[in-house]
Amino acid sequence: MKRVVLKAPVDHKPRADDFTLIDVATSPCPDNGVVARVIYVSLDPYVGSRIRGRHMGEPPPAPMEDAIPGAVVAQVIATRSDAFTEGDYLYSMDGGWQETVALGADQCRKVDPDVAPLSAHAGVLGMPGLTAWAGMTQLADVGAGDVVLVDAAAGTVGGAVGQIARLQGAARVVGIAGGPEKCALVEKRYGFDACVDYKADGWRDRLAEALPDGLTLFFENVSADMAMIALSHAQVYARGVLCGLVDAYHTEQQSAHPLNAGLIIGKRAKVMGLVVYDFYPRWDEFAAEAAPWVKSGKLTIAEDRAEGLEQAPTLFEKLMDGRNIGKCLVRVAAETA
Ligand SMILES: NC(=O)c1ccc[n+]([C@@H]2O[C@H](COP(=O)([O-])OP(=O)(O)OC[C@H]3O[C@@H](n4cnc5c(N)ncnc54)[C@H](OP(=O)(O)O)[C@@H]3O)[C@@H](O)[C@H]2O)c1
Repeated sequence: MKRVVLKAPVDHKPRADDFTLIDVATSPCPDNGVVARVIYVSLDPYVGSRIRGRHMGEPPPAPMEDAIPGAVVAQVIATRSDAFTEGDYLYSMDGGWQETVALGADQCRKVDPDVAPLSAHAGVLGMPGLTAWAGMTQLADVGAGDVVLVDAAAGTVGGAVGQIARLQGAARVVGIAGGPEKCALVEKRYGFDACVDYKADGWRDRLAEALPDGLTLFFENVSADMAMIALSHAQVYARGVLCGLVDAYHTEQQSAHPLNAGLIIGKRAKVMGLVVYDFYPRWDEFAAEAAPWVKSGKLTIAEDRAEGLEQAPTLFEKLMDGRNIGKCLVRVAAETA
């Protein structure tokens, strides 16, 4: 079976050329585990840091050996677990960029293909969706009357944040995204009240116009600089969720404008860090709430898809450059065998 690996250790922003495809034997089925054929591989920003050994203390994949880390939706082809039968679909954060994967049952969540399209389980019902749900409903407790600002709003996390805010009764939802195509997606498909293009001249004026009464809640995906801009629009007692600093993942220097403690004090703001791992025990609760939203079309995320495992490095380079529009997914095999 085919697997994508690093050619050599990486200490720069990963490029497509850093990866190669190798042939390896399929691993045997572990005790109390399964072997599954991978259908979708999710490409996520944290993998860029993980590859460089900069993510949560986790080791980088060994070059020419380990699969690039990644969540997968897969179908069981062999099982030694009472929890799974052949043909079951599953989601695992421990899948990797490869055609088949051997997993312990405790590394997998069973996926019901009738609840939502299979690919949604790798995105808005997968780890990025859980992140948005956890930030909005568990940390920030978004609710009626909130005015919410989120950046990287065309992405899975940002897009889900705004839609969940709306579903929880927020009064106004504003996004920030790069370019007119992303902003149109955020406003028309995701239903935000406004989306401001930060690559356009005069965008700070547009942002002020979009938040005439300021904000009560911001969700930060991009940088400390953007968080400070959000805070400058905050009403007193606003809340902020710090989720990602994607603009800093591949720079060697700290932001020139770290979080301004004086501004946080002046706004009496409550700023919260979010790590999705803390919410894995709550996954069933999230899935039970979010799956009907997805099925009814109230929670929707565009997909930026590639066809074939060999295309994963090119799509990943696009993600690393921020050129992706929506959830980055590689379809490795047909949904039905
Ligand atoms: N804390 C956690 O546990 C957790 C869990 C999951 C995800 N996250 C974070 O959530 C954020 C969004 O994740 P996602 O999966 O939904 O990704 P995404 O939004 O689909 O992709 C990242 C987006 O970030 C924006 N961006 C701004 N500056 C960038 C730069 N220098 N390089 C690359 N992209 C840049 C781009 O959108 P624009 O063109 O609109 O700027 C890009 O499309 C990321 O920061 C991710 O690390 C955190």
